[in-house]
Amino acid sequence: MTSLRVHPATQPLNGCIGLPSDKSISHRALILSALARGRSRLARFSYGEDNVSTLAALRALGVHIEDDAHGTILVDGVGLAGFHQPTTDLDCGNSGTTMRLMCGVLSAQPFHSRMVGDASLSARPMLRVAEPLRLRGAVINGRAHQKKAGDITAPLDIGPLPNGRRLSGLEYVLPIASAQVKSALLLSGLFATGPTVVSEPLLSRDHTERMLQAMGVPLMTMGTTVRLDPPSSAGALLPFDVELPGDISAAAFPLVAAALVEGSAVTTLQTGTNPSRTGIIDILKAHGAGLVVLPQGAVLNEPIGELTVQYGPLRGALVAGEMATRAIDEIPIICALAARARGVTEIADVAELRVKESDRLAQMAKVLAGFGVACEERPDGLIIEGKSEGALRGTRVHSHGDHRIAMTAAVLALVADGPTLIDDAGCIATSFPSFVATFRALGVQIEELP
Ligand code: S3P
Repeated sequence: MTSLRVHPATQPLNGCIGLPSDKSISHRALILSALARGRSRLARFSYGEDNVSTLAALRALGVHIEDDAHGTILVDGVGLAGFHQPTTDLDCGNSGTTMRLMCGVLSAQPFHSRMVGDASLSARPMLRVAEPLRLRGAVINGRAHQKKAGDITAPLDIGPLPNGRRLSGLEYVLPIASAQVKSALLLSGLFATGPTVVSEPLLSRDHTERMLQAMGVPLMTMGTTVRLDPPSSAGALLPFDVELPGDISAAAFPLVAAALVEGSAVTTLQTGTNPSRTGIIDILKAHGAGLVVLPQGAVLNEPIGELTVQYGPLRGALVAGEMATRAIDEIPIICALAARARGVTEIADVAELRVKESDRLAQMAKVLAGFGVACEERPDGLIIEGKSEGALRGTRVHSHGDHRIAMTAAVLALVADGPTLIDDAGCIATSFPSFVATFRALGVQIEELP
């Protein structure tokens, strides 16, 4: 397993950087282009391992996907009735989004399939997606969850739908905001005999809704409720040609690094700025960071822009409610911001972080303690006492296979008093394969150790 040794920054971080393609949008672009009829082009695809899991699953279902060798993926969509039974298990690796979104598509098929994942994914709760899909007639079985009685985990056995049966319409209220579950229900709704209506307590990321609308599917949203009517023919989804936006969840790491390292100014290019994902922008502002957003248009209904963050004094802030939901994947790196802010930061309403790639609240509490930052762990969040003066303590951190924990530790290491060793850092490739190169280009000294 690769380890990283990250040295404290000796100079400001300055520069404009390109980002990996947005992981959430890339999953959806792959799945929906496969379900369209005809060839789609996905430019700037960045081969994060999670997205590659989705790509491989679609290939195993008989979809022809090729790379033009210039970073553009060509997907020959087979239409809604075009998937073939896979001859092997579909390996979703570390990717919860692959597994949950594909549940929606596979549960509508007349054949059986089985999805498996790595150790982390095989411990994540799957009843939240299986239960509503079962309500519309899906056949989904999993292994009993080791820790959560009544829940299930991967491997998941899906289908077949009995002879000639189709999924029914569905009205469902999600108990917790979840874009993965909402998207699985919308994707399954493409194959259903009636409408799909999904409501959630707070709006989770809405990439699926935006992309389906761009592809001509009858879909309406009102507040936190979405209604999809099944398209009237199996060839109804239009293929598309898109330059994938950069991932704001990846951008958060260099941008927070700029806020932490004295004298820095970093700009991220072509960054996705969908409002359901921009909690990090509001949170940077709430901490007093100097931030400029330059809008640059939209692709597939997804707004994009340039984001610039400059170093400056930071203050503690409250991170909770819908602001936290719109930054759900950024909470670890927000802990780094809080660690260098004057005063206390309270992070609340994010109990969901306990069932991500790792228990991110427990892991971040450990990481912060390692760097010498005082932190109290709560059931649904963290209270962090910022250490704004003097350096943090260089330390040794284990990622526990969680890419966002590893990258957050690398950013904290920039303001430590000596090198930090990050064990099991290979997981960074699941979302940000060019992370080390990007930080080196900003002048950071990082060693990769076998
Ligand atoms: C994602 C949704 C979120 C997020 C995950 C990606 C998506 O998960 O944490 O990294 O692409 O739909 P939940 O839907 O479980 O909140």
